[in-house]
Amino acid sequence: MSNLKKILKNKNSCKSVWFMRQAGRYLPEFKNIRSKNPDFIKLCLNSDLSSEITLQPIKRFNLDSAIIFSDILMIPYALGQKITFLKNDGPKLSKFKPNLFFSNYEKDFTKKLSPVYDAIRITRKKLETEKSLIAFVGAPWTLFIYMYGIRKSKNQVELDKLKIDDKKIEMIFQELIKFICLHIKNQINAGADVVQIFDTWAGLIPTNKIKDYCFKPNAKIVEFCRKEGIPNICFPKGIREKYEDFNKLVKPDGISIDYDIDPIWARDKLKNVVVQGGLSPYFLLKNEEEMFEAATKYIQIFKDIPYVFNLGHGLLPETDPDKVAKLIKFYRNF
Ligand code: CP3
Repeated sequence: MSNLKKILKNKNSCKSVWFMRQAGRYLPEFKNIRSKNPDFIKLCLNSDLSSEITLQPIKRFNLDSAIIFSDILMIPYALGQKITFLKNDGPKLSKFKPNLFFSNYEKDFTKKLSPVYDAIRITRKKLETEKSLIAFVGAPWTLFIYMYGIRKSKNQVELDKLKIDDKKIEMIFQELIKFICLHIKNQINAGADVVQIFDTWAGLIPTNKIKDYCFKPNAKIVEFCRKEGIPNICFPKGIREKYEDFNKLVKPDGISIDYDIDPIWARDKLKNVVVQGGLSPYFLLKNEEEMFEAATKYIQIFKDIPYVFNLGHGLLPETDPDKVAKLIKFYRNF
């Protein structure tokens, strides 16, 4: 059993480290492949290259887990929306068409994403058994934000554009949950052993909707994972003190905290769960002293409970890979 799976299943406190967005734009070896592959979705559907990119940070840093190189937007893609990535402006999706969205078949979805599952098969064969291969999905709200094109800029959404009633949103979420669970199951069948559920935009949900848009949909996905015996980690980024209710209601195996969360508060309030992450990725842009000091805080605070060392969000594109290596070494020697 992989190290991360053991921690999540047995809630033991052995050491484990991986980073969100560890395979990506800060690595010269990724940039090299990316420069020859201008279509990002096509790159995600190239099983050999996806597997190679997945393994790049493992080769360089000997991390405990690999996260499959793919994207949360592969689900809207497989459900019929066209995705383009504009330079410095993130992803753009073609207009959401309800008729098209509600007429998808599971068989076609699995076929369309089969290159992702093949990438997992290839990667699992090359990865040492004690290393975890992490599958991932976006949570319904976060996918919905992109599918409806209400993402205004990097950190804002235009909620007033949401001229759609609650009943319709619930139907869309239900349909999304069906395919999210299928995508999880397919990734696990292909050889992934843990799933992380990204709710990157959960922090933008108005408080009176947090149960319907965040807690309940995440709970349904975690329930599915529990039934299937799939170790899971939730990342409801930006919900601040609502992390406590999220944990009580959703009951994931692991919970990834963002950099707004006070780690002492998290240690005291988040019970019966493996805590992951927290350290701001911006500390990797500072000098070593500051970076180590911030890392020490997290390692010290969580030293007596099961904790997975990771960040409070993904590695930034401007990160120096040598800093990443130094941080990992610091954690291992601690
Ligand atoms: O290393 C890994 O973590 C695995 C691969 C991974 C990618 N995206 C590759 C990627 C993962 C886990 C994701 C998840 C993802 N994708 C999220 C949730 C996590 C988070 O960071 O909040 C979200 C919101 C997306 C949607 C998305 N994909 C955006 C907004 C962008 C553009 C800007 C950005 O964040 O990089 C992408 C493109 C993308 N996904 C890139 C990579 C390496 C960059 C592609 C490029 O331009 O070269």
